[in-house]
Amino acid sequence: MTTTRTLGPFQVHPVGLGCMPLSMNNDRQYPDEADAVATIHAALDAGVTLLDTADCYAPSWDAFGHNESLVATALRQYGSLPEGLVVATKGGITRGPGETWGRDGSPEYLRGAVEASLRRLGVDVIDLYQWHRPDRERDYAEVVGTFAALRDEGKVRAVGISNANLEEIAVAQDVLGPGGLVSVQNEFSPRYRSSEDELRRCDAEGIAFLPWSPLGGTGGGARAVGEQFSVFAEIGAEHGVSPQRVVLAWELALSERVIPIPGARRAASIADSAAAAELVLSEEEIARCSASGS
Ligand SMILES: NC(=O)c1ccc[n+]([C@@H]2O[C@H](COP(=O)([O-])OP(=O)(O)OC[C@H]3O[C@@H](n4cnc5c(N)ncnc54)[C@H](OP(=O)(O)O)[C@@H]3O)[C@@H](O)[C@H]2O)c1
Repeated sequence: MTTTRTLGPFQVHPVGLGCMPLSMNNDRQYPDEADAVATIHAALDAGVTLLDTADCYAPSWDAFGHNESLVATALRQYGSLPEGLVVATKGGITRGPGETWGRDGSPEYLRGAVEASLRRLGVDVIDLYQWHRPDRERDYAEVVGTFAALRDEGKVRAVGISNANLEEIAVAQDVLGPGGLVSVQNEFSPRYRSSEDELRRCDAEGIAFLPWSPLGGTGGGARAVGEQFSVFAEIGAEHGVSPQRVVLAWELALSERVIPIPGARRAASIADSAAAAELVLSEEEIARCSASGS
């Protein structure tokens, strides 16, 4: 029996599904809609109750919202949805003609972005709305203030931030009030340890920490994680499981607050990843994994 993890007001399966590769990935290889839907359904079948998307996840700038629409389609087609399902999305990144990327933390932009996400997801309220990346031209506290207002108006149930440093976490906590900062989503994987300080802060403060690209990303890092960091392959062989499952079990063991969101295009990938919630590593194995990047 898998125990759940706390994500603000929600209890979710310890492993979420990162939906980004279904609409945007380094290989630019996309499943057709039926296969993408099947992958999201496989996640739900495996017990996953957190789906992470973003408005900007799309194969091209003029398909903005592609991934949110895909998630909505998959959920409509699933039938009876699991109790406690949480759909987390993000806003604050812009895309435009010529594949230009930008950031906009203005209240006008974010309010429009939330309305568009609500429409695409086909919901009255967004479960978890995350500020995708800081807009360095704006005061961090003021932008978080817009997220707080959206929450207080009932447009979003809970607020998270992404790509945030320790100072930004403190500012967000201050603006959102006690317990108001529900999650921090930062890059963290065997090859990317730089956000370990933020992970530790979240652990201490009772904030969920969602490692993004937790296996090393779609650019090859995730596929080759067992070759690049052989300890995960060795421990996997001892348990008869994939190196990827060991990576996720190790991340889960770092803190009760960690909820990794591995991406998947194939149904088999997320089915395998979700089972990391059942894989218990010994203290010695966890220490070997932690030492592998140093
Ligand atoms: N906040 C941000 O700025 C930010 C940035 C990037 C990503 N993210 C989030 O993080 C999520 C995950 O990141 P990501 O997709 O870039 O990287 P990732 O989770 O590290 O890697 C995804 C890749 O791993 C493969 N994979 C997954 N589980 C596997 C398993 N058990 N065995 C073998 N291969 C496995 C998948 O293969 P297949 O494709 O073949 O199934 C996929 O290509 C995204 O979906 C997104 O939600 C957030």
